Amino acid sequence: MDDQLERLNRLPLRDDLRGQHPYGAPQIDVPIQLNVNENTYGVPADVQEAIVEAVREAAGGLNRYPDREFTQLREALAEYLGHGLGADQIWAANGSNEVLQQLLQAFGGPGRSVLSFPPTYSMYPLLASGTGTAYVKGEREADFGLSAASAARHVREHAPSIVILCSPNNPTGTALGLDVVEAVYAAGEQSQTVVIVDEAYAEFAHAGTASALTLLQGRPRLIVTRTMSKAFALAGARLGYLAAAPEVIDALRLVRLPYHLSAVTQATALAALRHRGALMAEVEAIKRQRDRIVTELTRLGLRPAASDSNFVFVAGFADPRRIWEGLLEAGIIVRDVGIPGSLRITAGTEAETSAFLTRLEELLAE
Ligand SMILES: Cc1ncc(COP(=O)(O)O)c(C=O)c1O
Repeated sequence: MDDQLERLNRLPLRDDLRGQHPYGAPQIDVPIQLNVNENTYGVPADVQEAIVEAVREAAGGLNRYPDREFTQLREALAEYLGHGLGADQIWAANGSNEVLQQLLQAFGGPGRSVLSFPPTYSMYPLLASGTGTAYVKGEREADFGLSAASAARHVREHAPSIVILCSPNNPTGTALGLDVVEAVYAAGEQSQTVVIVDEAYAEFAHAGTASALTLLQGRPRLIVTRTMSKAFALAGARLGYLAAAPEVIDALRLVRLPYHLSAVTQATALAALRHRGALMAEVEAIKRQRDRIVTELTRLGLRPAASDSNFVFVAGFADPRRIWEGLLEAGIIVRDVGIPGSLRITAGTEAETSAFLTRLEELLAE
């Protein structure tokens, strides 16, 4: 045991945090970073300028606390989402991770539970442990699919306080049918289960993929979370948000820290929303690279999952560790999510994707 761990163990840490590991996707400075599903196209120059201008303006007022209700931002997000949503149905925080944490603070906590369906986003169990909420694992089919009947059965069996459905799912990339969301919501009626649909990657879904936003009307326990980290290329700005019934927003006001969303963050997000045309054009380019990766990996004899996101989950590697290391030697980092025989690759720019595919083909031939 190293010194630091020993010193940690001597602290009066909460018992349920002892032995836990923090979130730790490697942050390695290599030229081609395809491991944490960032937007690889960067912030377009005109959007950068608009953000700098907006932040310059905000800087003059930084002696004051920001608008605690981030009213303008909520209005802009409601307008972006559409579906007849009003600003009173929108909430935002520092990344959708913080949005999810606030939801668990409000609806989870000691004596309560959250159910999700692994393999799924690795932060769910960590958010559960941080908020003292019991984490319950549901099961997927062998191909990682999730049917309405099976998901609903898990909800009836466990009667959790919260269910998190990730659609498109990270790390597998595939979107859920809305029948799953409807069935889970109905199954949670008796237990008054709060149903969160994490749509972090929604903008990358294939045309015709319906969002759970269309189900919000008349479902006060349904919450749809989104983020500006992916489609809006703003992972560094930290802005996540959700849409739900106005009373859910009131619940979050009880747990949020005062002024949690800085004036700089609000100004940045507003500027990006005003310039979303340029950003959405990049989303289309990323989707083309994503589809190219699926086609090429299939040609190479691998088994990529159908992807509605900006990454591809691929199975069929005899030795994924060797491939991961071989790519890293060439300055390309992808993600080993710990599922045997598989890797997850974020869609890069055209040049990055070409470099990845070329190196991969060489490694497979060795
Ligand atoms: C499914 C999913 N949800 C939420 C997040 C959190 O994103 P952020 O906190 O940057 O909004 C991620 C990040 O990768 C994710 O994959």
